[in-house]
Amino acid sequence: MIKKNKNLILTAGPSITNLEKKYVNDAVSNGWNNNWNKYLLKLENSFKKFFKVKYAIPTSSCTGGMHLILSALGIKKGDEVIVPDITWVATASVVKYVGAKPIFADVDKKTWTMCPKSLEKKITKRTKVIIPVHLYGHPCDMDEIMRIANKYKIHVVEDAAPAIGAKFKNKLVGTFGIASAFSFQGAKLIVAGEGGIVLTSNKTLSKKIKQLAAHGRTLKKNKNTFWIEKVGFKYAMSNIQAALCLAQFKRIKELIRKKREIFGWYNNYLKNSKSIVLNEEFYPAKSVYWMTTLFIKKSNKRILASALAKKLKKMSIDTRPVFPSISTYPMWKSKNIYFSKELSKYAINLPSGHNLNKKTVKYISDCIMNIIKSN
Ligand SMILES: Cc1ncc(COP(=O)(O)O)c(C=O)c1O
Repeated sequence: MIKKNKNLILTAGPSITNLEKKYVNDAVSNGWNNNWNKYLLKLENSFKKFFKVKYAIPTSSCTGGMHLILSALGIKKGDEVIVPDITWVATASVVKYVGAKPIFADVDKKTWTMCPKSLEKKITKRTKVIIPVHLYGHPCDMDEIMRIANKYKIHVVEDAAPAIGAKFKNKLVGTFGIASAFSFQGAKLIVAGEGGIVLTSNKTLSKKIKQLAAHGRTLKKNKNTFWIEKVGFKYAMSNIQAALCLAQFKRIKELIRKKREIFGWYNNYLKNSKSIVLNEEFYPAKSVYWMTTLFIKKSNKRILASALAKKLKKMSIDTRPVFPSISTYPMWKSKNIYFSKELSKYAINLPSGHNLNKKTVKYISDCIMNIIKSN
């Protein structure tokens, strides 16, 4: 019998140090008037340097960032955009925001990210954009996705929400397509409460995105600052959020190291189980392991992820379901026979917050092994 943990072990949780407090304090105290964008500019520059891209545009969220990219690319009614069937709904919602149609590709059985074969089958004359998602911090097969995109001359926009620092063949994700977006929502790899950033090296696109993010306000220096040239959106990040985000980003290597360490602990304790697999990185991908995720393999004792989650909750362990197959949501009502359906039924995100220690991961792993054995 394993002794139940006293407190609920949560799935996420940031790492906040004195650096974050110092920057936020400074932004709250001094980040107004002439200093209104001090941290925003620093954040932009840090991202440009790290990713070696020409433009970085902080936004109020990753969703807003992706909406801006599609709008700036001129995606509209009658166009199709291919997204993976397992992702947060934001990836598909932004396609609807611009009036286009989301088309769902299956996910790969090994990496659980967009399956290139399924993607190629979905391409039509109307396909304008492909949005690969680096799910839970694992890079997609960017060789194949870029090959297909180039073959059919379609833009790639990367949804890299939680995947800052993940690499494919030693190249950072978020630098493959024409543009990419990341998220700093409170459960992500680095947090700003809410927030996102768009990266691109395309000058024309960056100008359009900057203008659309600020209500279509003119970018011309000689014009009235309140002159509006087109209808835009309000998708700005605040200086205070940027201060928190910058402090987190300065610690990116440490934060990734900890996520990889957490995955390593789970892998060590669970690798001998024949009934489960974890979302281990597949060469040449280097994952940041934002969320360690477990898949229950086919066997006559197979247990549903939802049943496993219930039993873990009784042991004070919180988990998150893997996203449902998003094409089956009532808005799209698509009927598919994808692997994504099996994944969403038999996979869960395990606690992966930065505050976890090895002893807690051992406890969680022991509980998982116990439940699977006794099922
Ligand atoms: C894959 C993916 N895309 C997009 C988003 C949206 O990010 P945000 O909440 O910053 O809009 C998320 C957030 O969970 C996500 O996981």
